[in-house]
Amino acid sequence: MTETEALRARIAAQLDQSRSRTTLLTDAVDTDDLVMQHSPLMSPLVWDLAHVGNQEELWLVRDVGGREPVRSDIDNLYDAFQHPRASRPALPLLSPTEARAYNRVVRDKVLDVLDGTPLSGRPLVADGFAFGMVVQHEQQHDETMLATHQLRAGPAVLPAPPPPPAKVVVAGDVLVLGGRFTMGTSVEPWALDNERPAHEVDVPAFLIDAAPVTNGQFAQFIADGGYDRPDWWTPEGWRHRIHADLGAPMHWRRDGDGWAYTRFGVTSTVVAEEPVVHLCFHEAQAYAAWAGKRLPTEAEWEKAARYDPASGRSRRYPWGDEPPRPRHANLGQRHLSPAPVGAYPYGASPLGVHQLIGDVWEWVDTDFHGYPGFAAFPYREYSEVFFGPTYKVLRGGSFGTDPAACRGTFRNWDYPIRRQIFSGFRCARDPRPAEAA
Ligand code: AVJ
Ligand code: FE
Repeated sequence: MTETEALRARIAAQLDQSRSRTTLLTDAVDTDDLVMQHSPLMSPLVWDLAHVGNQEELWLVRDVGGREPVRSDIDNLYDAFQHPRASRPALPLLSPTEARAYNRVVRDKVLDVLDGTPLSGRPLVADGFAFGMVVQHEQQHDETMLATHQLRAGPAVLPAPPPPPAKVVVAGDVLVLGGRFTMGTSVEPWALDNERPAHEVDVPAFLIDAAPVTNGQFAQFIADGGYDRPDWWTPEGWRHRIHADLGAPMHWRRDGDGWAYTRFGVTSTVVAEEPVVHLCFHEAQAYAAWAGKRLPTEAEWEKAARYDPASGRSRRYPWGDEPPRPRHANLGQRHLSPAPVGAYPYGASPLGVHQLIGDVWEWVDTDFHGYPGFAAFPYREYSEVFFGPTYKVLRGGSFGTDPAACRGTFRNWDYPIRRQIFSGFRCARDPRPAEAA
C-alpha cells in the first residue's frame, strides 16, 4: 500500500466511525423524539443529522469533487447562520427517513471523490485536510447531539458505560516555571485555522491544579454560601447568577443532605471524586475566587498540557505525540460521564497534570481570538466570525468528544453563560514568593 492509499483508508475508516456514532445517537430514539426540540438551546436531532450530510456535500462533493449538487434546494435550511437553533423545529426539514437516505447518497459520492482525489498539492486537500475537517465536523455535532440527549426527559436510551480504567491519588497543584513555549501548531495536518500558526509565548511562572475541580470540592463552595455572596463573582457573573437563578451545577438537585444528578436518564447520588460538569464560565470563575485562586489563561493551560521541560518542545498531547488510546483519556463517548480524578495516570503531562484531555471541557480566562498571523481557512465562518470578547475559550475536550476532534492545540469556545455543554474547569494561581525560586 502506498502512503496515499494508507491515508485514504484511514480517512474512510474515520468517516465511517463518525457516521456510526451519528447513527447510534439518532437510532436510539423514535421519530417523534428526533423531530422535537428538547431545549431551545439545541436543534432537533434530525436537523444535526441532515446538517452533517449537507456540510459533507458542500465541502467534499461540490468543492473538492467538483460534482453536481445532490440537493442544492436544502442548503439554506441547514445553514447554521440562517436559522438560530430555537427556530429550527419550525423549518420544513427532511424527515428522519429522508435525512438518512440523503446522508447515504452523499457518503457514497464522497467515497468515490476520495478515491479520485490526490491528497497533496492544493491546501484544501493536502494531507486529506478537507476530509479531516468533515470528520471533525460530524464528531463535533455528535458531541452536540449527546448534549441534546442529556436534555431529553425520560428513561435511558444509550448503552450503559464501562467503569473507569484506573485509580491513583492526585491532589494539589503543580508549578510550571516561567519561560517561552510554543503555542498552537503549523504542522498538525488536520489542525483547524484557529489552532494556527505555531508561535512563541512567554508565560510567567504559575501553579495549576493537578486535576479538574471535583463535585465534592464544588459542593463545599455551595455549602459555604458560594452562590449567596457576590464577593466571589464578577459584576457580570453575579448579574447572570441572579437573572438565571443559579444555585448549583445544571442537572443537580438536593437529595437529603447531599446532591443527586440525572445523566442520560439515570439518576444517582453525585460522585464526589468526579470532575464537576455543566457549569458556566461565571460559576467556574466564582469558585476559583472562593478557593483563593483564579482560572488559568489559555496559554497557561496549553503550556501545562504540552510543554515538555526535558526537551523544551511542545507535545501533541500531555502524554506525548501518540494519538489518544483508551488508557490515556476519557474521550469518545465510551463512558458517558467524567471519570473520577486519578483514573488516567497514563495521560498525565510530564509535570504530573492529570486529565487535561477528556472528561470535561475546561473554561479558561481568555476571550476567543486568532493567534498572531491567523488566516481564515477554508472559510471565515468556522472561527473568525466568532473572534472577540463575546466568547470564552474551553480546552481539552470532554467524555463526549471524539479523539479526532481533540488534541493539545484544539480550541473550543462558547458564551460564558452556557452550561448545557460538558464544561468544567481547574484552577491556577500565581506562585507565592517562596515558590517562584
Ligand atoms: C467549535 C463547538 C463551537 O458547535 O458551534 C459545528 C463547531 N462549527 N458546526 C459549534 C461547529 C460548525 C462549533 N464549536
Ligand atoms: Fe455544523
